[in-house]
Amino acid sequence: MRRRLLLLSMLTLASGYGQKKNDDKSVKIKPKAEFVADLMSKMTVEEKIYQLVQFSSDGTVTGRKSGDNYITRIQQGKVGSVLNATGAANNRMIQKLAVENSRLKIPLLFGHDVIHGYKTIFPINLGMASSFDPAAVEKAARVAAVEASAGGIHWTFAPMVDIARDPRWGRVSEGSGEDVYLGSKLAAANVRGFQGDDLSKNNTILACAKHFAAYGAAEAGRDYNTTDMSERVLRDTYLPPFHAAVDAGVKTFMASFNEISGVPSTGNKHLLRDVLKEEWKFDGMVVSDYTGVNEMIAHGFAKDDQDAAQLALNAGMDMDMVGGTFMNTLKKSYDEGKVSIEVINDACKRVLDVKYDLGLFEDPYRYFDEAREKENTYKPDFLEAALDVAKKSMVLLKNKNNVLPLKKDMKIAFVGPLASDEYNIIGSWAALGERDGRAVSVKEGVMNLLGANAKVTFDAGVELSGNKSNMMKAAYANALKADVIVAVMGERENQSGEAGSQTNIDLPGMQKEFLMQLRGLGKPIVLVLMNGRPLTLSWEDENIDAILETWWSGTRGGDAIAQTLFGDNNPNGKLPISFPRSVGQIPVYYNHKNTGRPYLGQSDSEQKYKSRYTDSDNSPLYPFGYGLSYTKFDYSNLKLSTAKLKFNEKLKISVEVTNTGNYAGDEVVQLYVKDVVGSVTRPVRELKGFEKVNLKKGEKKTVTFELSSDDLKFYNIDMQNTAEAGDFEIFVGGSSDATLNGKFELVK
Ligand code: BGC
Repeated sequence: MRRRLLLLSMLTLASGYGQKKNDDKSVKIKPKAEFVADLMSKMTVEEKIYQLVQFSSDGTVTGRKSGDNYITRIQQGKVGSVLNATGAANNRMIQKLAVENSRLKIPLLFGHDVIHGYKTIFPINLGMASSFDPAAVEKAARVAAVEASAGGIHWTFAPMVDIARDPRWGRVSEGSGEDVYLGSKLAAANVRGFQGDDLSKNNTILACAKHFAAYGAAEAGRDYNTTDMSERVLRDTYLPPFHAAVDAGVKTFMASFNEISGVPSTGNKHLLRDVLKEEWKFDGMVVSDYTGVNEMIAHGFAKDDQDAAQLALNAGMDMDMVGGTFMNTLKKSYDEGKVSIEVINDACKRVLDVKYDLGLFEDPYRYFDEAREKENTYKPDFLEAALDVAKKSMVLLKNKNNVLPLKKDMKIAFVGPLASDEYNIIGSWAALGERDGRAVSVKEGVMNLLGANAKVTFDAGVELSGNKSNMMKAAYANALKADVIVAVMGERENQSGEAGSQTNIDLPGMQKEFLMQLRGLGKPIVLVLMNGRPLTLSWEDENIDAILETWWSGTRGGDAIAQTLFGDNNPNGKLPISFPRSVGQIPVYYNHKNTGRPYLGQSDSEQKYKSRYTDSDNSPLYPFGYGLSYTKFDYSNLKLSTAKLKFNEKLKISVEVTNTGNYAGDEVVQLYVKDVVGSVTRPVRELKGFEKVNLKKGEKKTVTFELSSDDLKFYNIDMQNTAEAGDFEIFVGGSSDATLNGKFELVK
């Protein structure tokens, strides 16, 4: 410790700026603009460029990483940020390399993917989105930030705010689903959670809105694939959650791997400079995705690393993640006049600004406190929060004859490869979340809830994805003796997520076949699903009595599932993404256009020349916003405060919701709007509000939404973002299929 104090005061003198210890309020440094300008006035062009370089540690301090001589380069001040180094002690050691050795002693920025928790793992993001509960999502991000910051992390590469309408794309698991409004609300909630109200507190971390942009629109759902879309679709559908993140104060952005209409996002000046930095006035920094700059060569957009680096920087990219292109070529491009000092200065300033915001110039070691780390890992209230969010993320898809909730004294055969699993249940991109031995499996959750007298058995029966069938015998024997069978089935945790695209999204391996055989026993069957994307479940929907979608539910997942199965938690999650009937229907999403020949379903008098499939319904199996409860909710008495809404006024929409069933429960009340005629065609309906209400048995509540013309804006025929006067229809209910409706006119 004495050595460190001495060292800190030497650093203060050497670098010209104060550095304070965690417990020491002493040295105050100059205001940001002045401080950063001073520092930059001392920097050479190379030193500025090196701030734009991120190296990967791959979890260790040694070894070959994103370039050779990792340690030496840090000591020489040639690295601005380090990826994937974790742990207070480890990161302090790396930070020392920079601040004790480099000429200007500029602290490193430590980034890591803290996607749905750091150690305490929350449900995957698609699961959290099912809660339709921004406060719960914010809380999860807050806990993750407290835990990660204590573990030496300054910066997370989250939230992923890509709109995703194609379940073949494995990364649907990482986002908030298909809807612009829900996606925007949850983007902002995540930013607030990670960044808190003051970035200079040492328990807040930089958030990163990714992947900018339209990454979720990859053709055919194949990861990294091309996207091609109109500027209108881009702005109406794919950009709003990013804009919401900027409005919430997000400090960093990550460019996406894909190209949009011929231009890779990494070198897309229109996106990065014109829209993000100029139009939206984003003052934070933009990082590329992992080797995204180099990949512009394979895209056929840059001829070599030097070309790629200058294209990226000029387009508005501030940091090269791992690719080494900025480090190796930007000085040459500067000497050759291909990049200006102004552009380098702008990028460097943005990087230094966020380091300043985090308080790193005051104390580069402020995130590296082992005592704090120990105290803030798997804290009881973090685990409690993980349980709470997991319970909110369960979606009940089917419940024939009220098979659920189960009675605690029933004889139950739990079968399926995930019934006792504590590895997959926390899902992919689980940062440092421990799996076996830490995560609560369904088996453990059931035993925690029912205790030793429980009449339950647990047998895998089949493998997750293989076709070994010799385990089925024991499962059958127990199923035969049971009152009810609970099949816990789904995907491998890393089957969805990055590079997890699939053409077949049925239950994998022999699981479906096993279910079919269990069906033959004639007992009630409950299917508990764990998966990172919508699956095709047409057979299951027809043949299985109850289906509970639990996604990957995190460290406390098994407790949340058990409490839901046995009725201690009444499920209230709603789908943030539609479940298709078959892969052939994809993309299927609720806010589609009507076409000139809309199909009205089986009752349509004209069946032939309509926009429809001849071998399938148009509708999804389970629509966006859908999810059942153990109780029932009735909607009535829809009232609008006016039939004519002026542009500068507000419309109040109220509806009565009554719990007419036998349990207390939460319901997500949803408001949809249809703009009937536009200068460009408008979707059949769009979510414009939601509110979760808790209703006791028999209770009635009035829910009121407010709408103004601002909520009705879109990019019109002249590409102006505006609302247009005319007729609107509204629908209120418990899913995107809501039928209770009203209308109003927007008037000048
Ligand atoms: C992913 C990003 C992630 C980055 C760093 C990339 O492959 O696309 O989402 O943040 O790796 O781990």
